[in-house]
Amino acid sequence: MVAPPEAPLLSLRALREQACLILTEAGIENPQQESDWLLIAALPVKRHALTLDGDQHVPPSELERAMEMVNRRARREPLQYVLGTQEFRSLEIAVTPDVLIPRPETELLVEEALQSLLDVRNPVVADVGTGSGCVAISIAKECPRSTVAATDISRPALGVARANAISAGVCSRVRFFQADLLGAFARGAFHAIVCNPPYIPSEEIDRLQPEVSRYEPRQALNGGEDGLAYYRRLLADTPSRLRHGGHLILELGYLQAQIVKNMAASTEDWSSVLCRKDAAGIERILVARRA
Ligand SMILES: C[S@@+](CC[C@H](N)C(=O)[O-])C[C@H]1O[C@@H](n2cnc3c(N)ncnc32)[C@H](O)[C@@H]1O
Repeated sequence: MVAPPEAPLLSLRALREQACLILTEAGIENPQQESDWLLIAALPVKRHALTLDGDQHVPPSELERAMEMVNRRARREPLQYVLGTQEFRSLEIAVTPDVLIPRPETELLVEEALQSLLDVRNPVVADVGTGSGCVAISIAKECPRSTVAATDISRPALGVARANAISAGVCSRVRFFQADLLGAFARGAFHAIVCNPPYIPSEEIDRLQPEVSRYEPRQALNGGEDGLAYYRRLLADTPSRLRHGGHLILELGYLQAQIVKNMAASTEDWSSVLCRKDAAGIERILVARRA
């Protein structure tokens, strides 16, 4: 019997060209950069080998793994889900489709939370809607005197967050709770409550880029009809859970700052309400101090 001819081995150079072409045809904005990141993750090669060692052959099992990752990205699955991680404030945060991919703007939420805790000896903090745990874990890591209660309504998200807390070495100071917002937390429990709530108006979600609308969890995006449903609930629920002088720190969606600021200012609960801009000049973080 004659053995079937073996498929010719592909060189690293040919694979790199093919991967870049596939991502280009799929409409990915930085096809060369992204295909290189995918190949580095899929193959046992260092970055420099991609350009300097293009003649080496890629074994079939590695080729299959690389092509699977490239094809997932070509179907517009976010790069971070394909790679399984996203950097956030110098931490490697593991991400799966059960959690929102941490965004750079959210690093400001952590910064404001840390700022609000400077004068508190042993701060107790709540991170509401923790998702991957990026905010809760960063606060615990960067403020070693703190303990953090992290809540989410999604059990699978809490599993991802807990694993991230273990990897970051803070699991003894971050506790996770499956709860609807602040659930049954006691009066005056917290020095600070932080939250990056879902804030996209429901009807806009399907108009977002496919990476977001098709792959990120709806529960992490959907802010109700006008995008403001969570702000209304949080402004009503948080004052009683904060100590006097404690802070509520919220991430805001595009052009939501003035409306949310007005909502907060319409009650006697807060002694000051301020907003901080992000790098693009958009008012992104609201800081309200409990009266
Ligand atoms: C915009 S994501 C933020 C995730 C993470 N904190 C971050 O900044 O990357 C909102 C999170 O709130 C959670 N969530 C939605 N509704 C909730 C509710 N009623 N109670 C608690 N968490 C909720 C979602 O599951 C999601 O993880």
